[in-house]
Amino acid sequence: MTGTGKRHFIKTFGCQMNVYDSERMAEALEMAGYAAADSPDVADLVVLNTCHIREKAAEKVYSELGRLNQIKQARAKGGLRTMIAVAGCVAQAEGREILARAPVVDLVVGPQSYHRLDDLLRRASTERGVIDVDFPEDDKFKHLPVRGAARRAPTAFLTVQEGCDKFCTFCVVPYTRGVEYSRPVREILEEAERLAHAGACELTLLGQNVNAYHGQGDDGEAWSLARLLRRLAEIPTIRRLRYTTSHPRDMGDDLIAVHGEEEKLMPYLHLPFQAGSDRILGAMNRKHTRNEYTELVRRIREARPDIALSTDIIVGFPGETDAEFAQTIELVEEVGFAQAYSFKYSARPGTPAETMDDQVPEDVKADRLRELQALLSAQQAAFNTSCVGRRFDVLFERHGRRPGQLVGRTPYLQAVHADAPDALIGRMIEVEISGAGPNSLEADILRSAESPDLARANG
Ligand code: 5AD
Ligand code: SF4
Repeated sequence: MTGTGKRHFIKTFGCQMNVYDSERMAEALEMAGYAAADSPDVADLVVLNTCHIREKAAEKVYSELGRLNQIKQARAKGGLRTMIAVAGCVAQAEGREILARAPVVDLVVGPQSYHRLDDLLRRASTERGVIDVDFPEDDKFKHLPVRGAARRAPTAFLTVQEGCDKFCTFCVVPYTRGVEYSRPVREILEEAERLAHAGACELTLLGQNVNAYHGQGDDGEAWSLARLLRRLAEIPTIRRLRYTTSHPRDMGDDLIAVHGEEEKLMPYLHLPFQAGSDRILGAMNRKHTRNEYTELVRRIREARPDIALSTDIIVGFPGETDAEFAQTIELVEEVGFAQAYSFKYSARPGTPAETMDDQVPEDVKADRLRELQALLSAQQAAFNTSCVGRRFDVLFERHGRRPGQLVGRTPYLQAVHADAPDALIGRMIEVEISGAGPNSLEADILRSAESPDLARANG
């Protein structure tokens, strides 16, 4: 570490892939001598790691840049320079347009170029408006610094796959993140071992299409996600594995089988279906029908009966009629979700759906979203209530809002609050669920799977 005395602040928008990328960028910046700042007001470099998936997400970047402009000017009066970088999917999608619309920006850097951040910053300190939105041949992971042991969190994200070849007609991901790429097995295992060594006991494997993973193993074969999960489960201190996000078409038999056989793989699956009508699914180019989805769910539940399902749903895709939307509601009723994300369709530049006829009016989309979200909230609340009185192992991750309170997650990914001593952070503890809210659970500590004395230590 060179110790330049400079400080960085990274603000992350959007998905978990961005959270992972921000962490890797922070590590790269720390290697280049930047310490982390607590707020943008005291940072010499501010990075916005942005999301382009819906218009609202992309527009947030510009309002944030407005605020940063004021900070930059105030600091300049005190003789301090503030560099502002836009990273992530808005950088990739809009490139030079960002500089035209927001001259406050010094650097635009796409998701495949983070390993060049230090060089780019040096250039941006003398040149106006530096841009790097290439898709380089050699992968960025190879060139990013090794993940540091400074990381101490009990849970960690690990990107194993990036990009998408599915080309759903509403989605910008194939354009902003490029074609599908799977990291080699060895690289993932090394990163997992280092994370485990630094104290992580839960790994969430990430990819825009994570279950399409087919990275090369040392044996020369392409490993499936199922095989990778089984191998990662062999790391003794890794107690829990998760993965997200999956496409129904890539949910192979071997992956379904792992859900029934590998106890470290948590009983939770995020499996977007987007719409309940076959006509809309076809127009979305989803490559699956409604029946294929429900049949898949049946097989997954056969392998792992208690699995909690989550999904993504879009309402108001171009041409969606009331009757077609009703099929989305029916499908939600039929499957039953523990959790879900739902969105109004948002036309994205350059996607096929953007120019489709019959765009649905905003007020119709808003009404549909309200109806859908009422149903999803009721399902989530019912699932949470069904957990009251049950006992689970919870991995405590961090402090809660109240003093003396810790927050962790059940195997089903529900947030759990419990009064517990700090020493339990990073530990897997058996709890009894004492209460349920719409978005989280309350629990009493019973004892630790690792140390039967904990209940006593806890008073
Ligand atoms: N409009 C609304 N929602 C979208 N998503 C992706 N693109 C759009 C869009 N143009 C949603 C999908 C996807 C999730 C990450 O975001 O449901 O699964
Ligand atoms: Fe977008 Fe569809 Fe690819 Fe998911 S599968 S990232 S929704 S194109």
